[in-house]
Amino acid sequence: MPDFVGSVDQGTTSTRFMIFDHAGNEVARHQLEHEQILPRAGWVEHNPVEIWERTSAVIQTALGKAGLTSSDLAALGITNQRETTVVWDRRTGRPYYNAIVWQDTRTDKIASALERNGHGDTIRHKAGLPPATYFAGGKIQWILENVPGVREAAESGDAIFGTTDTWLTWHLTGGYRGGEHVTDVTNASRTMLMNLETLDWDDELLSLFNIPRAMLPDILPSSSPKAFGVTESTGPLAGEVPITGVLGDQQAATVGQVCFAPGEAKNTYGTGNFMLLNTGTDIVRSKSGLLTTVAYQLGEEKPVYALEGSIAVTGSAVQWLRDQLGIISGASQSEALARQVDDNGGVYFVPAFSGLFAPYWRSDARGAIVGLSRFNTNAHLARATLESICYQTRDVTEAMTADSGVTLDVLKVDGGVTANELCMQIQADVLGVPVSRPVVAETTALGAAYAAGLAVGVWKNTDELRENWNEARRWEPEWDENQREAGYKQWRKAVERTLDWVD
Ligand code: G3P
Repeated sequence: MPDFVGSVDQGTTSTRFMIFDHAGNEVARHQLEHEQILPRAGWVEHNPVEIWERTSAVIQTALGKAGLTSSDLAALGITNQRETTVVWDRRTGRPYYNAIVWQDTRTDKIASALERNGHGDTIRHKAGLPPATYFAGGKIQWILENVPGVREAAESGDAIFGTTDTWLTWHLTGGYRGGEHVTDVTNASRTMLMNLETLDWDDELLSLFNIPRAMLPDILPSSSPKAFGVTESTGPLAGEVPITGVLGDQQAATVGQVCFAPGEAKNTYGTGNFMLLNTGTDIVRSKSGLLTTVAYQLGEEKPVYALEGSIAVTGSAVQWLRDQLGIISGASQSEALARQVDDNGGVYFVPAFSGLFAPYWRSDARGAIVGLSRFNTNAHLARATLESICYQTRDVTEAMTADSGVTLDVLKVDGGVTANELCMQIQADVLGVPVSRPVVAETTALGAAYAAGLAVGVWKNTDELRENWNEARRWEPEWDENQREAGYKQWRKAVERTLDWVD
């Protein structure tokens, strides 16, 4: 059997294809960005056709770089930005509308009406999620209500929905000539439409959003020996490879960080931050503003659940310093600028650009920079931006401890921002626990490869995967308790200032 596994990581800003060997080491990769379409304030879209074209290109280029062909791949994994919603015509492959991205807030009235009409607790109980613009259900409803002809086509089964895993699997397995219309439990758990207990679409939830079941994909385990489908030989792989692993990107990172035991957690630092705590086969319902979600399901085994703290704006706050304020020329410069000062000089920055996600879930919040005096400089703002990433992480960590009783001994981290040494040091200081980064930082793509490889026997079990995990770098807390608590108290005051801003 071939020993390499391929992995598509379709993210919010780019798509990459990576190839891993049996030791979990990277053999090759290629990555391409796609356009962020911002038609008006609060709206964020992607062109699904561009995403499919970029995916094809990165697969072909990475295989070429490695000198490999599809026959060298034992299996293919797919991981993706979650919640981002595509509705297309199964007869032609033509999207009815651009993909509505997870960050998009156009469905705020749909979300608030659900709460106002008393459906919030039903959604929280059945789907594990609060009604919010973030999730796919409201985005599907918006397309059904606003794009002419889609509702009729959905009722008849011609208009079909998918997150980008489903969109890419459908194309890779034949497209309009009969591609598979499937997703996995982790992606389905981000729609507000799947029942966490039955792992099936729930009729009561579907009726709240008025979504026809006919447009929804079949839900499979994240690691599926029966396969989500087999790639077409006329496609970018130019051969038949079983797609046996599919997970949302944050769940894939949880697998890539080998968080297989209850109480193990990881935190991924991307455009936003996403912390997931494995709660085992128990569904832990949050009382503290976290999400309950499926972490993964391996074949016929019971699903494993997680508590999730989702933070909308972290790395994208650093991009804002670069793109909108122009005070740095590249993300890496934020560290050099912040190092020019010893502390934040009293400045706190709460980047509530799309409201606040966990644990607050306040769509009425907007960003604020507070504590300014004439003494402050760009360097303090850069430092406050890095601190905002770390304090938001503390907010979700506090909520996790409250919900689960688990106190972290170490925080496993991954994602682009973890290259920022100062930010990781501040993270250890703000939390008061060590922060640990693994050798293979591409844990998202690796996790999807693991799910795919487990299904076909490249790896025997999760114990074998644990052996592949090695620490590359650890940051120990340096602040004393007084400094830690004084800083956090100020942060919470700053958060208060951002609430009730939008009517
Ligand atoms: O829930 C949104 C998340 O899946 C996005 O992740 O890494 O594509 O920004 P990323």
